[in-house]
Amino acid sequence: MNIIFLGAPGAGKGTQAEKVSEKLSIPTISTGNIIREALKNGTAMGLKAKEYIEAGKLVPDEVVIGIIKDRLAADDCKNGFILDGFPRTIPQAEALDAMGIVIDKVIDIEVADEAIANRMSGRRVCSACGASYHLEYKKPAVEGVCNLCGGELVQRKDDAPETVLERLKIYHSETEPLKDYYSRTGKLKIVEGQEEVADTTALTFKALED
Ligand code: AP5
Repeated sequence: MNIIFLGAPGAGKGTQAEKVSEKLSIPTISTGNIIREALKNGTAMGLKAKEYIEAGKLVPDEVVIGIIKDRLAADDCKNGFILDGFPRTIPQAEALDAMGIVIDKVIDIEVADEAIANRMSGRRVCSACGASYHLEYKKPAVEGVCNLCGGELVQRKDDAPETVLERLKIYHSETEPLKDYYSRTGKLKIVEGQEEVADTTALTFKALED
């Protein structure tokens, strides 16, 4: 199954994508994670993306479209994949269509802007492997330390409150129109994000079965 996760920054796309990936044994492709990894490794693409990502702005379409084209050609995508954070603009969605990629389901996780600001302030990520935690909702076993690799947990630069507001603004103007785009194909399912991660996961699995 080929799945897209839509939703505002911090709505919980990455969290749900991970659950679906485990259940269906298909890879999650997160453009955000790929860009952050490139940034960490100081590649040409990472350097190009740095100023955009740290300011909460979208990286230019041609850069992310190139990333996705290469990644979807890999063998592990043959039996399905999950796109987390792509497409984020209408031109990106059109580029996906032009690649001949058939999408089976588009899950849009809906969370109010006010709740998002709270979630983002508590998010911590592993500086070594990128795993995501929350000070309140998904605590690591040892404070400040990654359960998976022992790396240090830090706050993402773009999770600073003023940058979150910028990301939300861009989401509403650039990404939200994709709901209409996919609703016209009949593949869009809306999932109301819940207080508890497990409750959102149950709704997500149901939306995939409908
Ligand atoms: P990206 O990494 O994709 O960031 P994002 O979309 O802003 O999404 P997040 O990872 O912040 O949130 P999420 O919805 O995955 O939430 P999560 O599950 O982590 O992109 C970063 C940047 O890269 C962009 O700003 C842009 O610059 C660039 N970029 C990436 N893709 C691009 C593209 N296609 N085009 C152009 N530029 C691109 O959850 C958030 C927190 O809440 C976590 O701490 C989690 O534990 C907690 N949480 C989750 N669910 C719940 C719940 N139900 N209850 C309570 N807490 C919860």
